[in-house]
Parts: sequence; structure tokens; C-alpha cells
Amino acid sequence: MKMLAIVNRKGGVGKTTLAVNLAAILGEGIPTILVDADPQGSAAGWLPDLDDLPVIHAPDLASLQALLAKVDSAEKGLLVIDCPPLDAQVSAAVMQSADLVLIPVIPSPLDIRAVAPLLEAIAETKAPALVVLNHIKARTTSVRMARETLKEFGVPLAKTMVVSRVTHAEAAAQRVPVTVYAPSSPAANEMYELAHEVKRRLEVQS
Ligand SMILES: Nc1ncnc2c1ncn2[C@@H]1O[C@H](COP(=O)(O)OP(=O)(O)OP(=O)(O)O)[C@@H](O)[C@H]1O
Ligand SMILES: [Mg+2]
Repeated sequence: MKMLAIVNRKGGVGKTTLAVNLAAILGEGIPTILVDADPQGSAAGWLPDLDDLPVIHAPDLASLQALLAKVDSAEKGLLVIDCPPLDAQVSAAVMQSADLVLIPVIPSPLDIRAVAPLLEAIAETKAPALVVLNHIKARTTSVRMARETLKEFGVPLAKTMVVSRVTHAEAAAQRVPVTVYAPSSPAANEMYELAHEVKRRLEVQS
């Protein structure tokens, strides 16, 4: 199985939002398992554990490591892992085996400063990674500047930018993916676009 890890040690940047929505979209064509590696259990509380998209809660390092040890890389399918904020050990364990590390970043100076050590570490190890801007308020000069600053770390930046939209919060409140809550909304379309980019980088096909 291929492994997509959603990582950022900063809290509230959209890890769970991207993990849930991408797992739902990618799971339409590829056998997918969503792993909630956060003791908060936000992803597991968002989506029910269904046959066509199993959701596993691995709330600590030991249960996560046990799960990762069972992953068969020769098997078809995808594991989407929603990482907790702050827990360096969990992030490190997941990043070691990930085929792609997706890093949501809010385009603010404070958020960029907070994510800098992670991006530097990724650039050094050349781990396959993709930064995606989330919570965009408008495509302003500050977003352009954030993209320029982030590019300097040498980690690829997704073309798709995820705009801050109330639809995302509403979908979370209804406990469904945004593509189910509002299938032809701009919020859903952005997630499809991002899923397409992720799929290309993971080299997985539906
Ligand atoms: N693009 C967006 N538009 C509007 N709301 C968003 C967007 N992305 C995330 N949110 C909201 O922001 C909040 C934080 O998002 P989320 O829980 O996905 O972040 P997180 O990185 O997983 O947080 P934590 O570090 O606590 O696990 C949630 O209320 C979510 O609904
Ligand atoms: Mg989360």
C-alpha cells in the first residue's frame, strides 16, 4: 500500500480536513484506509468506519507502529494518515515510511516560521513532500509572498490552494466529506483538484 501522511506540528492548519476529504475522494477509485493517528480522534469522529472506507484510530505511537508494521507495500491501495500536532515521535515514525508527506500551511508569517524546521528537515532528507496552502482568505500579495518564502525551502508547493470557506466547517459539523455535503461547490472542486495533484505525485491510479 502507498502511504500519504498529512503532517504539520502546528495545530489547526487543516490536517484533519485534508485527510478526511482526500481519503474520501481517493477512496472512490483506490482501496483506501484512513488512519487517525491523533489522540484527539477528530478524523475518526468525523467519518464512520465503513467497508469501502475503513477508519482506524491509532491514538498512540505503539498502536501506530503496530499498524505500520503490518502494511504490505506490495498490496494495492492507499493509507491516508492524519497526524496529530506537536507529537514529534508520531510525525517522525509516519514520515519515515510515507510515500508522500502533505503539509498544510496557513499563509501567515507565524505559521511559516512554525513550519520552517519541518520543511528544512524534509529538504535535507529529500523525502517526497508537498506543501499546500490552506485557509486562504483571498489571493492577495501576502499569499504570493508566502508562496515565494515557502518555495525557498525547496519543498514543492501544490498548485491548488484551499480557500477558507464556511462549507468546510459545515461539512465537518455534518460529519461528511465536503464532496458529499456540497458536491459541486467550489470547496469540493478544490479538494478534487488537490486529490488529482496528490494522485499524480503518489503515482497511483484509480
Ligand atoms: N479551508 C478551510 N476553510 C474553512 N475552515 C477550515 C478550512 N480548513 C480547516 N478549516 C477549519 O479549521 C479548523 C481546524 O482544521 P483541522 O481540524 O482540519 O486542523 P488540524 O490541523 O487537523 O488541527 P489539529 O492540529 O488540532 O489536529 C476546523 O474547524 C476546520 O473546520
Ligand atoms: Mg487534526
